[in-house]
Amino acid sequence: MKKLLFVCLGNICRSPTAHAVMRQKLAYAGINIEVESAGTSASHKGETPDPRSVRQGMQAGYDFSGIRSRPVQERDFADYDLILAMDDDNLAALQQRCPPMYQHKLQLLLQYHPAYPQYREVPDPYYGGAKGFALVLALIEQGCEGLLQQLR
Ligand code: 4NP
Repeated sequence: MKKLLFVCLGNICRSPTAHAVMRQKLAYAGINIEVESAGTSASHKGETPDPRSVRQGMQAGYDFSGIRSRPVQERDFADYDLILAMDDDNLAALQQRCPPMYQHKLQLLLQYHPAYPQYREVPDPYYGGAKGFALVLALIEQGCEGLLQQLR
């Protein structure tokens, strides 16, 4: 396992949060795995993460520096070892584009959550309030912790 990609719709809320959380967990664990994130939509390309996500994440001690929105590219399916979608819609979008030989790389992040499948998806927080962003962070932290245990 060398490279992990987190994927949501805009790559400004959920997947940048997973990106920031997981790279910190891996660094603290001393595990050398590269982490990136991307969106199935290109509509926020080049943007920094949503300030509401950054506020939640920074309060919990995560660093979002260097993270910019970018769309999923065809070569990601070959380049990354594991591609983790935040919800079923984004998983389906990835499955539609991914060559058959790489389909096994596509998973839901919350497959690693201890309460999966009750928590199957990280819900889209974009049009909601601060509570939604707090839930997103809590789900992602637990999913990433479970993933870290698998990677050890
Ligand atoms: P994300 O959230 O997929 O977690 O980055 C969203 C960001 C933007 C939009 C929707 C969801 N949007 O509709 O622009």
